[in-house]
Amino acid sequence: MNLWTFRIPTAVTFGEGAIRDLPRIAATLGQRPLLVADRDLVRLPLWARIQEILPGTPVFAEVTPDPTVGSVDALAAVVRDQRHDVAIAVGGGSAMDCAKAAACLAAGDLPSIRAVHSGGAPLGSARVPLIAVPTTAGTGSEVTPFAVLNDPETQRKGPIAGDALYPVHAVVDPKLTYSLPRKVSVVTGLDALSHAIEGYWSRGHQPLCDLLAVEAARLICRHLRQAAKQPDDARARAAMSYAATLAGAAFQLPKNAMVHACSFPLSTRYHLPHGVACAFTLEEAIRFNAPVMGPRMTDFLRGIGLEDAEELIALVRELKQLGGLPCTLREAGIPPEVIPQLARESFHPLMNNNPRPMTESDLVAMYQRLA
Ligand SMILES: NC(=O)c1ccc[n+]([C@@H]2O[C@H](COP(=O)([O-])OP(=O)(O)OC[C@H]3O[C@@H](n4cnc5c(N)ncnc54)[C@H](O)[C@@H]3O)[C@@H](O)[C@H]2O)c1
Ligand SMILES: [Fe+2]
Repeated sequence: MNLWTFRIPTAVTFGEGAIRDLPRIAATLGQRPLLVADRDLVRLPLWARIQEILPGTPVFAEVTPDPTVGSVDALAAVVRDQRHDVAIAVGGGSAMDCAKAAACLAAGDLPSIRAVHSGGAPLGSARVPLIAVPTTAGTGSEVTPFAVLNDPETQRKGPIAGDALYPVHAVVDPKLTYSLPRKVSVVTGLDALSHAIEGYWSRGHQPLCDLLAVEAARLICRHLRQAAKQPDDARARAAMSYAATLAGAAFQLPKNAMVHACSFPLSTRYHLPHGVACAFTLEEAIRFNAPVMGPRMTDFLRGIGLEDAEELIALVRELKQLGGLPCTLREAGIPPEVIPQLARESFHPLMNNNPRPMTESDLVAMYQRLA
């Protein structure tokens, strides 16, 4: 067994009704809270519940899906100017990532998060304390040291990383996910499944993360279908929220691999939402990597209650169909002529974590099969 260090510095409060604890948790961290959400979320009934719990708390609701460096800079300016001393991010990965990055930017000296995202500047350790309240069961951002940002100027989407990005506290209340439409439930659930699988097969895998990954994948394989079909099924929703947080904890140290590396150009150039982009190559990735995994893959599959890799591939395909996700480039609206470019741009450093080395011609062949 290789040398490893496990940690997860974020406190996690989990369960139906957990958001009732938000005012108490926030008060332990600061006196001038700011709520952060995306524009769509503040129109949902769940937002009325948040406002009821935190009456009169100022709100920044300008986060866009796949948050841009510009929205991080704008939010950090509000935090600085209004001297907020605790941020509460409510939403999916977009709101959480924007708030996580802005909480660091606001406490440091850099003028723009672009300096970190594409300029190579270190993130630093300063931050305004942040509470993450996920309303999707997907990204696991509530327990990860990453924020995935998009820079429309450079056409670059990718994560920034640093310990300061770990939320201080995650408040995971499955009830907040009941309003997710079927498609978003599937898309975000498959993102979480990708984290569990990639955290497990990453070259940086380690035993404790393996445990979390297997349990997360087992729960997703058992409950995602029902959560998507029956939005208020308390058992399925709780299992999915728990699994997504577990999967976040499972990949935050080993990091992701080819599925996520390939997702970045699919999202930046062709605007596939993150989970759709991950699900797009997931079956191919399982088929490519499983043979080199040997007994570790057998253990994983047994642990999640499946016989073999083909059964996992079939389940992923079934879930994609349930959510109406694209299974081919054609269905995704991506012309086959761009395959060579897609293949070239998929070589994000996460590709180096893949258990089986991936060449450009492997990728071209993969996208041709997906045409
Ligand atoms: N930081 C990390 O570790 C990490 C990991 C994976 C993905 N990500 C990033 O997270 C982002 C994606 O996050 P996401 O998949 O959660 O989607 P999202 O945050 O973009 O939300 C998708 C849509 O769902 C809506 N929504 C959210 N909760 C809802 C609810 N309860 N009911 C109804 N609608 C709801 C939002 O308003 C939005 O319109 C991407 O930018 C991705 O790259 C980050
Ligand atoms: Fe992801």
